Amino acid sequence: MTIRIAPSILSADFARLADAVALVEHAGADLIHVDVMDGHFVPNITIGVPVVAALARVTKLPLDVHLMISDPDRYLDAFAGAGASMLTVHAEVLPHLHRTLTHIRHLGAKAGVAINPSTSVSMLSEVVAEIDHVLVMSVNPGFGGQKFIPRTYAKIEAARQLLSPGANTATVEVDGGVDPSNAGALVAAGATILVAGASIFAQPDPAAALHALRRAAEGAR
Ligand code: DX5
Ligand code: ZN
Repeated sequence: MTIRIAPSILSADFARLADAVALVEHAGADLIHVDVMDGHFVPNITIGVPVVAALARVTKLPLDVHLMISDPDRYLDAFAGAGASMLTVHAEVLPHLHRTLTHIRHLGAKAGVAINPSTSVSMLSEVVAEIDHVLVMSVNPGFGGQKFIPRTYAKIEAARQLLSPGANTATVEVDGGVDPSNAGALVAAGATILVAGASIFAQPDPAAALHALRRAAEGAR
């Protein structure tokens, strides 16, 4: 399966987002990861629907929108309308996860579920058929530049195993503290989408950093 690199613009210069996106698009990024935070589910506030709409106007890359918000159901239509190709919701806030995922697909987006470090993969066992991607958080969500939690490898393997049977084409995405030192092992564990913020945008040469990350990720296969 191809490895997709999703630079997270959380670590980019918010005053120059179009430039940041153009830079990684030119450098071969596969997706643009957009972190939406509400200051309620996570202790930080970032960006919302108008910024996603603005990004959609300046890039051809699919927008991978990670909703770290307490009431995602309320905003799904707006984010899909703004141009999100992938919508990822957190399992921790959704008592009716099946309905939410079905609705995301109905909107024409890929439906993803994110799980925090303290949330078990088994929480997803009843909605496997409704999932296009599982986002395994490898840090506690809220901020870029945090330290990778090693337990993540086992969770990626468990997620891969849960999704594997039959004709399921769902993918495993990993988010938080991803860099060239762990990318190979993350791919070996079963991740095929690598989100990277600080290890790309906080580097002096983000394009070279993206290439280095891809080499490390692909070296695992
Ligand atoms: C964290 C976000 C991540 C973040 C990753 O809550 O979901 O997408 O941008 O940043 P790094 O790669 O710097 O850990
Ligand atoms: Zn994210």
